[in-house]
Amino acid sequence: WWPLILTYILTFLVCGIPFGKIFARFFGKIDLQKVGSGNIGTTNALRAGGPKVAIPTLLCDVLKGVFGVNIVRLAVANMARIEPVDVLALNGGAGIGDTLLAIAGLVCLCGHIFSPYLHFKGGKGIATGVGVLFGLSWPFALLHLGIFIVVVAFTRLVSLGSIITVLALPITVPLYFAGDSLSFKVILSLLGLLIVWAHRSNVRKLLNGTESKLSFSKRVDK
Ligand code: G3P
Repeated sequence: WWPLILTYILTFLVCGIPFGKIFARFFGKIDLQKVGSGNIGTTNALRAGGPKVAIPTLLCDVLKGVFGVNIVRLAVANMARIEPVDVLALNGGAGIGDTLLAIAGLVCLCGHIFSPYLHFKGGKGIATGVGVLFGLSWPFALLHLGIFIVVVAFTRLVSLGSIITVLALPITVPLYFAGDSLSFKVILSLLGLLIVWAHRSNVRKLLNGTESKLSFSKRVDK
């Protein structure tokens, strides 16, 4: 089990890399934690640094989730001497392979939200969460990306889109992954709840009507 445990630790350390803060520093000469919402994610990168900061931030944050799930998939496949593509179905409904992948997703999110490089503070996890879903199943990820795009297109509220996208997980996971284990379904739903918790300041702003709307031009001073 040691290779797997080390892989989870590596996943946590990689997913903790605060790409938004790094790109904002390099491309925008700003400290993303001190401007706008203070979040290190794509929305604040766009708000404070514009597309040149936001685009690489989005790509890298999504890739962190894809990386985390797939490196654990490779580790499990290697341990069980099976093909990586068969890991999700390993032990079927009893759930070993699927549960280990769901834990990988949770570790990715914990790394991003509680970054070891930012005194265990970090982002809100939606881009990395979508990356995790892509790592598990790209059609399932596209479904959730679709939910996100529809909500944001109608409301221009990225935080509301993020929250609704992950609140759908307890409904979509049991339907899409019907044959997978209960632990897999519970962990994926917890992953959604963790992202909602990370958005608690946005929930307050949404409730009192002060949440800022998506804009493609820089709107905060350095
Ligand atoms: O996922 C982040 C987004 O939903 C909200 O970001 O910067 O508006 O708090 P922000």
